[in-house]
Amino acid sequence: MTAAVARHIERRARLAARMQPGSVAVLATAPEVLRNGDSDYPYRHDSYFYYLSGFTEPDSVLVLVAPTGDTPARSILFCREKNPEREIWDGYRHGPEAARIAFGFDEAFPIAELDAQMGKLLANVPALYYALGHSAALDAQVASWLKAVRAQGRSGITAPGSTHHLLGMLDEMRLLKDADEQALMARAAAISAAAHARAMRFTRPGVFEYEIEAELLHEFRRNGAQFPAYTPIVASGANACVLHYNRNDRQCREGELVLVDAGCELDGYASDITRSWPVSGRFSEAQKTLYALVLRAQEAALAAIAPGRPYSGMHEAALKVLAQGMLDLGLLERARYASLDDAIADKAHLQFYMHGTGHWLGMDVHDVGPYRDLSAADKPSRPLLPGMALTVEPGIYVRPAQGVPEEYWNIGIRIEDDVIVTDDGCRVLSGDAPKGVAEIENMMKER
Ligand code: GLY
Ligand code: MN
Ligand code: MN
Repeated sequence: MTAAVARHIERRARLAARMQPGSVAVLATAPEVLRNGDSDYPYRHDSYFYYLSGFTEPDSVLVLVAPTGDTPARSILFCREKNPEREIWDGYRHGPEAARIAFGFDEAFPIAELDAQMGKLLANVPALYYALGHSAALDAQVASWLKAVRAQGRSGITAPGSTHHLLGMLDEMRLLKDADEQALMARAAAISAAAHARAMRFTRPGVFEYEIEAELLHEFRRNGAQFPAYTPIVASGANACVLHYNRNDRQCREGELVLVDAGCELDGYASDITRSWPVSGRFSEAQKTLYALVLRAQEAALAAIAPGRPYSGMHEAALKVLAQGMLDLGLLERARYASLDDAIADKAHLQFYMHGTGHWLGMDVHDVGPYRDLSAADKPSRPLLPGMALTVEPGIYVRPAQGVPEEYWNIGIRIEDDVIVTDDGCRVLSGDAPKGVAEIENMMKER
């Protein structure tokens, strides 16, 4: 058995042990999605399903039966059958028996048998766990299974007395990355960092944003990453002030910055890096001033990340630096605010910094897990723990406006790194992407 299979078996056992004894959990993978005609969008498995199974074929469902005092836990896979005709067109399918052996399930059945088997598996079990309300198709299927079980009531068979939301339990598990996940995320971040360096070396006045995007994608793919983890943003000039810009079709001009937010997905794990650099290879004084401010904000945010510190601490730290900078540089009118805290309380910074300073990172780029301690009455920001992975991404976006110094107009800067909380602070995974002003300028001299 490979280490990966053992890891998935352990996760299934851990989840089953947290369920009500003898109860059943059902988790389907993502559906294939038609693009048009007979062409699908590239297939991507469901992250929860993959976390527990390691199995990437569509049309698959995982069923877990929790242990009781007398019976061990069981994990059951439903998947596509072997199909020599379809395999000529679409490639290899494991089929239930080979999948059972390769991925360490106790039992496996063809997906066509799901309804019939669920009618039996849900008989006399105390509770059902599934992703309530996530898929109308699954909700309807679950209702039909329950109806089938209830129809056997005259024989003394009972349907589950309660349903539970499965994903909350999985969110907590996914929030803490094990050593293998951390190694994979470090590799994904290293590939993305190399892609940013490559894109910097490529950039010059006259190139189109999509040409820079092509450099990023080339570097991702040549290193084995399967996809970008999200649609890359390559935003030159004023486009950098559009937070989710992704047309990537403008020509970059001398004197502008380009903001690039791009990260690859490697073996199911995301990276998410932003760098901002001058098209010409040299920052102007105004660009340098704002860039140095964002960099200081990021340093302050990184210093606020350690076990036991609240998740929100990094945002508060970055915000203080940014808002002070906005006051010092005249982006915000000093006379209007009695103090820095007053400006922040007034949300004055939102004109130039309107997003949070990061998010959980993992299999999904905006990974799962609550940001607050939901068990406490006032729901405070949750304390960080070793193994949590997050991004740190302060920025500043200056749209032209009355009272805003013109030298800063249309400059948009974000600096984003991926980190993992360690025993005494955090480890930056994406540090190979050039970040200092001199480091970037030197890298761009290599062109
Ligand atoms: N690239 C998405 C984000 O930074 O959150
Ligand atoms: Mn991000
Ligand atoms: Mn990003």
